[in-house]
Amino acid sequence: AEGDAAAGEKVFRKCKACHMVGEKAKNRVGPVLNGVVGREVATVGDYKYSKGMMEFGEGGKVWDEETLMVYLMDPRGTVKGTKMAFAGLKKEEDVNNVIAYLEQFDAN
Ligand code: HEM
Repeated sequence: AEGDAAAGEKVFRKCKACHMVGEKAKNRVGPVLNGVVGREVATVGDYKYSKGMMEFGEGGKVWDEETLMVYLMDPRGTVKGTKMAFAGLKKEEDVNNVIAYLEQFDAN
Protein backbone atom coordinates (compact mmCIF):
# COMPACT_ATOMS: atom_id res chain seq x y z
CA ALA A 1 0.00 0.00 0.00
CA GLU A 2 2.68 2.51 0.99
CA GLY A 3 5.36 0.81 -1.08
CA ASP A 4 6.81 1.64 -4.48
CA ALA A 5 6.40 -1.30 -6.86
CA ALA A 6 9.16 -0.15 -9.22
CA ALA A 7 11.63 0.02 -6.36
CA GLY A 8 10.29 -3.32 -5.18
CA GLU A 9 11.16 -4.93 -8.50
CA LYS A 10 14.80 -4.16 -7.73
CA VAL A 11 14.48 -5.58 -4.23
CA PHE A 12 12.96 -8.73 -5.74
CA ARG A 13 16.30 -9.42 -7.48
CA LYS A 14 17.38 -10.83 -4.12
CA CYS A 15 14.45 -13.22 -4.11
CA LYS A 16 14.77 -14.36 -7.71
CA ALA A 17 17.49 -16.87 -6.91
CA CYS A 18 14.72 -18.96 -5.36
CA HIS A 19 11.29 -17.55 -6.30
CA MET A 20 9.35 -16.79 -9.46
CA VAL A 21 6.39 -14.52 -10.18
CA GLY A 22 4.46 -13.89 -13.37
CA GLU A 23 2.54 -15.89 -15.94
CA LYS A 24 5.03 -18.70 -16.38
CA ALA A 25 6.11 -18.88 -12.76
CA LYS A 26 6.91 -22.27 -11.31
CA ASN A 27 8.06 -23.44 -7.93
CA ARG A 28 11.83 -23.40 -7.72
CA VAL A 29 13.83 -23.64 -4.49
CA GLY A 30 10.97 -21.63 -3.00
CA PRO A 31 7.26 -21.58 -3.84
CA VAL A 32 5.67 -19.44 -6.55
CA LEU A 33 4.87 -16.02 -5.11
CA ASN A 34 1.94 -15.05 -7.38
CA GLY A 35 -0.86 -13.96 -5.10
CA VAL A 36 1.22 -14.37 -1.96
CA VAL A 37 0.00 -11.10 -0.41
CA GLY A 38 -3.23 -12.18 1.26
CA ARG A 39 -2.55 -15.88 0.75
CA GLU A 40 -2.65 -18.39 3.58
CA VAL A 41 0.80 -19.48 4.73
CA ALA A 42 2.18 -22.69 3.20
CA THR A 43 -0.68 -23.36 0.78
CA VAL A 44 0.94 -23.80 -2.64
CA GLY A 45 -0.38 -27.30 -3.24
CA ASP A 46 2.53 -28.86 -5.10
CA TYR A 47 5.28 -27.31 -2.98
CA LYS A 48 6.91 -29.16 -0.09
CA TYR A 49 7.24 -26.78 2.85
CA SER A 50 9.35 -27.27 5.95
CA LYS A 51 7.68 -28.53 9.09
CA GLY A 52 8.44 -25.13 10.64
CA MET A 53 6.52 -23.27 7.93
CA MET A 54 3.60 -25.71 8.15
CA GLU A 55 3.40 -25.07 11.89
CA PHE A 56 3.70 -21.31 11.41
CA GLY A 57 0.67 -21.46 9.13
CA GLU A 58 -1.50 -23.46 11.50
CA GLY A 59 -4.84 -21.83 12.19
CA GLY A 60 -5.05 -20.26 8.75
CA LYS A 61 -2.46 -17.50 9.19
CA VAL A 62 -2.32 -15.20 6.17
CA TRP A 63 0.63 -13.40 4.56
CA ASP A 64 -0.66 -9.89 5.18
CA GLU A 65 1.62 -6.85 5.18
CA GLU A 66 2.42 -7.17 8.85
CA THR A 67 3.29 -10.86 8.71
CA LEU A 68 5.44 -10.32 5.62
CA MET A 69 7.24 -7.43 7.34
CA VAL A 70 8.17 -9.53 10.35
CA TYR A 71 9.15 -12.58 8.26
CA LEU A 72 11.17 -10.79 5.60
CA MET A 73 13.14 -8.75 8.16
CA ASP A 74 14.14 -11.97 9.95
CA PRO A 75 13.03 -15.20 8.24
CA ARG A 76 14.74 -17.70 10.50
CA GLY A 77 13.98 -15.81 13.69
CA THR A 78 10.29 -15.58 12.74
CA VAL A 79 9.64 -19.08 11.42
CA LYS A 80 11.61 -21.57 13.47
CA GLY A 81 12.96 -24.26 11.18
CA THR A 82 12.19 -22.51 7.91
CA LYS A 83 14.21 -23.79 4.98
CA MET A 84 14.29 -20.33 3.40
CA ALA A 85 18.06 -19.75 3.47
CA PHE A 86 17.89 -15.97 3.31
CA ALA A 87 19.22 -13.59 5.96
CA GLY A 88 16.38 -11.15 5.39
CA LEU A 89 16.02 -7.55 4.31
CA LYS A 90 17.52 -4.81 6.47
CA LYS A 91 15.19 -1.91 5.68
CA GLU A 92 11.46 -1.77 6.30
CA GLU A 93 11.24 0.40 3.19
CA ASP A 94 12.59 -2.47 1.09
CA VAL A 95 9.96 -4.79 2.54
CA ASN A 96 7.16 -2.30 1.82
CA ASN A 97 8.46 -1.91 -1.73
CA VAL A 98 8.76 -5.64 -2.40
CA ILE A 99 5.21 -6.13 -1.04
CA ALA A 100 3.95 -3.47 -3.49
CA TYR A 101 5.77 -5.30 -6.28
CA LEU A 102 4.33 -8.69 -5.27
CA GLU A 103 0.80 -7.25 -5.07
CA GLN A 104 0.90 -6.85 -8.86
CA PHE A 105 0.85 -10.62 -9.38
CA ASP A 106 -2.46 -12.37 -8.84
CA ALA A 107 -2.74 -16.04 -8.00
CA ASN A 108 -3.02 -18.18 -11.12
C1 HEM B 1 9.19 -19.21 1.41
C2 HEM B 1 9.24 -14.52 0.23
C3 HEM B 1 13.99 -14.82 -0.71
C4 HEM B 1 13.68 -19.64 -0.44
C5 HEM B 1 8.81 -17.89 1.24
C6 HEM B 1 7.53 -17.36 1.58
C7 HEM B 1 7.54 -16.05 1.26
C8 HEM B 1 8.84 -15.75 0.71
C9 HEM B 1 6.42 -15.04 1.44
C10 HEM B 1 6.36 -18.15 2.15
C11 HEM B 1 5.52 -18.61 0.99
C12 HEM B 1 4.31 -19.46 1.30
O1 HEM B 1 3.88 -19.59 2.46
O2 HEM B 1 3.78 -20.02 0.32
C13 HEM B 1 10.53 -14.19 -0.16
C14 HEM B 1 10.96 -12.87 -0.56
C15 HEM B 1 12.30 -12.93 -0.75
C16 HEM B 1 12.70 -14.32 -0.55
C17 HEM B 1 10.03 -11.68 -0.75
C18 HEM B 1 13.27 -11.81 -1.05
C19 HEM B 1 13.18 -10.63 -0.34
C20 HEM B 1 14.32 -16.15 -0.76
C21 HEM B 1 15.62 -16.67 -1.12
C22 HEM B 1 15.53 -18.04 -1.03
C23 HEM B 1 14.18 -18.36 -0.62
C24 HEM B 1 16.82 -15.84 -1.56
C25 HEM B 1 16.59 -19.09 -1.28
C26 HEM B 1 17.88 -18.89 -0.88
C27 HEM B 1 12.45 -19.93 0.12
C28 HEM B 1 12.07 -21.27 0.55
C29 HEM B 1 10.78 -21.14 1.09
C30 HEM B 1 10.40 -19.74 0.98
C31 HEM B 1 12.91 -22.54 0.44
C32 HEM B 1 9.95 -22.23 1.77
C33 HEM B 1 10.25 -22.08 3.26
C34 HEM B 1 9.80 -23.23 4.15
O3 HEM B 1 9.05 -24.11 3.72
O4 HEM B 1 10.25 -23.20 5.31
N1 HEM B 1 9.59 -16.90 0.72
N2 HEM B 1 11.60 -15.04 -0.18
N3 HEM B 1 13.47 -17.20 -0.46
N4 HEM B 1 11.44 -19.06 0.40
FE1 HEM B 1 11.53 -17.06 0.14
